[in-house]
Amino acid sequence: MIPLAFIEKTFQARFHARPTFFVRAPGRVNLIGEHTDYNDGFVLPIAIDRAVTIALRPRSDRRLLVHALDYDQTADFDLDRLERGETAWAEYLKGVAWALQGEGFSLSGWEGVLVGDIPRGAGLSSSAAVELAAARAFAAVSALPWDPPRMARLAQKAENEWVGVRCGIMDQMASAAARAGHALFLDCRSLDYEHIPLPPQTAVVVLDTATRRGLVDSAYNERRRQCEAAARSLGVPALRDAAPADLARCAADLDEVAFRRARHVISENDRVLQAVEAMRRGDALSLGRLLDQSHASLRDDFEVSSPALDQMVALARRHPACLGARMTGAGFGGCAVALVQAKGARRFTDQVIRAYRRSTGLEGQGYICAAVDGASQLSR
Ligand code: GLA
Repeated sequence: MIPLAFIEKTFQARFHARPTFFVRAPGRVNLIGEHTDYNDGFVLPIAIDRAVTIALRPRSDRRLLVHALDYDQTADFDLDRLERGETAWAEYLKGVAWALQGEGFSLSGWEGVLVGDIPRGAGLSSSAAVELAAARAFAAVSALPWDPPRMARLAQKAENEWVGVRCGIMDQMASAAARAGHALFLDCRSLDYEHIPLPPQTAVVVLDTATRRGLVDSAYNERRRQCEAAARSLGVPALRDAAPADLARCAADLDEVAFRRARHVISENDRVLQAVEAMRRGDALSLGRLLDQSHASLRDDFEVSSPALDQMVALARRHPACLGARMTGAGFGGCAVALVQAKGARRFTDQVIRAYRRSTGLEGQGYICAAVDGASQLSR
């Protein structure tokens, strides 16, 4: 995490005053429950100790002046004249302002410095973190009530309708509502959630393949359409409502691809429920096995893995400290996640990344992640 003192100094140098507020929103890694959120199903992410932080102070007008340190760019816009522009990261701020105003909140302007340490494009939800940090900033200066599911929904709306990316609700909910030391067991239909403690003596390791997903949006949208079509064939509102027996009964009505897509989602939802039970028992071995099964299902039935992800997962599993591993996030590149024995986590990470480099020539990265709280306003 980037130290507040550093952000404060940068703010002072730029605005010649001290910031009034600090807000922070984390990225996330999903333990299990992949491609289930837009099927109204279950997910189990953790918020990670990589985040977007904003130091800010209110303005007396309705202007936003935000400097992003990572890009060395400043966004400057008026809350009364929101227009789409070119600066990708600034669109998340505008989108959130647009969604909050659409909800009837009256917003004040502010000026701030924004800085993040979430690797971009790696599938760790850097964009959801910018959205939720922006929402917290607006909440701080405009004294808005902070209701995590409501804010997550508005951030998702910003991403879907302002930025134009179709995503489910998992990333925003993880960034908004997670709790330190816990995974967020979320029902993506009702947005009911529960915090489930991580198994003792384990660590969560994110393994970045250093490959980035090309054409991911079109493949993601295609998967969504296939799932919706499969739900229609099964006669249910969403795949969340189908049981394995329904799938078996309707197998003849589904083409082969639709059948496998549905089988992934239906079995994955069940694996999330089993994972929660395993965590309640403190049973890390069973949890690890469920991660392994999830990977096989994503690779073979849902077809969103990649050779690099398969290789990273295979190398992770070969290590004696590993309890289970799988691709995480949308897929086609990005990161894998491994559940490992805490005491072997450092060696695991170094050795797997080294073996990955040897076998692929790619500079992968490994991070041992702490599970942190969702978006918050920080005291200095
Ligand atoms: C992306 C989306 C999420 C979710 C995952 C797959 O991260 O943003 O909403 O659909 O893919 O589980």
